[in-house]
Amino acid sequence: TKRIAIFVSGGGSNMRALVEDMTGDHPARACVVLSNNADAGGIAWARARGIATEVVDHRPFPGDRPAFEAALNSALDRHCPDMICLAGFMRKLTGGFTDHWAGRMINIHPSLLPKYKGLHTHARALEAGDTQHGCTVHEVTAALDDGPILGQASLTISQDDTPDTLAARVLTLEHQLYPAVLRRFAADDRSPVFLQG
Ligand code: GAR
Repeated sequence: TKRIAIFVSGGGSNMRALVEDMTGDHPARACVVLSNNADAGGIAWARARGIATEVVDHRPFPGDRPAFEAALNSALDRHCPDMICLAGFMRKLTGGFTDHWAGRMINIHPSLLPKYKGLHTHARALEAGDTQHGCTVHEVTAALDDGPILGQASLTISQDDTPDTLAARVLTLEHQLYPAVLRRFAADDRSPVFLQG
């Protein structure tokens, strides 16, 4: 069974979807939920579930991402993870960290990559007049929101969609896509998953 560290910064709904799927013959289990934010809802939820948690605040390391990342690795060392799932973790990671975890770290991003790396993906898809939008799970490399694609879920944008409605619709797809990809990835199967919402 693979030991998974899940990184969150906020509510952690994707983390919850992953943990709730990790039962029975699933090839992985969560060994720790880590956040840069002590107030992240995901930390409280994991703690209440009896899952180990770690908080590594980024603020004591202004302008020094490698020092923050050394602290991340020290915290991880206490839990011996085989791999990392980023689930709404809102800190950029440097090549030092991504190289160390190469092939062992995946992320979910709320757009159909390679479109709309970075922030405000839903507003950008609307502004572009796109008809399709969605989310992507990919391996993490040094370049932001780049790296081999492991799965995508797409939906059709409607006339009435706003950035908020799209965010909610895409998040529902994220909760289906991320567990489906993790089941494969944790079993060393990198064939991509495609879903249509
Ligand atoms: C999700 O929509 C995720 O795709 C996005 O943040 C949200 C986290 O929600 N991630 C990024 O934008 C990464 N740059 P959650 O905390 O409820 O899982």
